[in-house]
Amino acid sequence: MIGSANLNIMIKAARKAGRSLVKDFREVENLQVSRKGAGDFVSKADIAAEKILKEELMGARPTYGWLAEEGGEDEGADPTRRWIVDPLDGTTNFLHGLPHWAISIALEHKGKVVAGVVYDAAKDEMFFAEKGAGAWMNDTRIRVSGRHRMIESIFATGLPFAGRSDLPETLKDLARLMPACAGVRRWGAASLDLAYVAAGRYEGYWERRLNTWDLAAGVIIVQEAGGLIEAVNPEDDILTSGDVLCANESIYETFAKVIRD
Ligand code: IPD
Ligand code: CA
Ligand code: CA
Ligand code: CA
Repeated sequence: MIGSANLNIMIKAARKAGRSLVKDFREVENLQVSRKGAGDFVSKADIAAEKILKEELMGARPTYGWLAEEGGEDEGADPTRRWIVDPLDGTTNFLHGLPHWAISIALEHKGKVVAGVVYDAAKDEMFFAEKGAGAWMNDTRIRVSGRHRMIESIFATGLPFAGRSDLPETLKDLARLMPACAGVRRWGAASLDLAYVAAGRYEGYWERRLNTWDLAAGVIIVQEAGGLIEAVNPEDDILTSGDVLCANESIYETFAKVIRD
């Protein structure tokens, strides 16, 4: 698969930041950690990875805008294009030595994501997609699963933690979904949840109260893998509402009904 120049820039940046994170992950007990909110942590590893990503991405495309979790927002000279970056998605897993976290990089053009990279550096799984060019994991083209029976399907979500306000909705969702399906998973990295739906590892995923950087890259990876993705309320804009619902095409309607009703 030969991607565009921008996709190659994104993949190169993800690999470089990935090396920094893998190194920090080996010595996780020595990281300085602080809390941004009740259950929201940030460490030296998040900051170092974001610095590398900014140098690589803005170095290569200095006119683009920038939105990243730890470093805020800059409007670029080119108001139509923007990098959207989560340098370490799954910080809580990372800080516990759990190898399930990723780097998420999206390129937005005129308000739509046109390319996305989600890199699981611990497992060396590079998920990526570009508008019209399909979705990939390393050298392999990926597609959403074909399962269409709820009873055979597994779904992932993000369970709320301290400081998050979506507990009542999530409990209601779970009470309806759990008896209807083969299982619900909570892995702890939204970008990988989206990539896993794209790769057909589970049939669907939903979560509330996410940020644009958690979702942006995964949106196009799911779409290019043949999946459907919307905000929980389909009228809302997926990148800004923070509520996401996605699944393979065959089960989408049934799954969406359980969550939305
Ligand atoms: C978090 C993860 C997690 C989700 C949280 C996010 P972070 O991102 O994606 O799965 O449930 O809402 O904030 O803070 O580790 O980048
Ligand atoms: Ca965070
Ligand atoms: Ca995140
Ligand atoms: Ca993060």
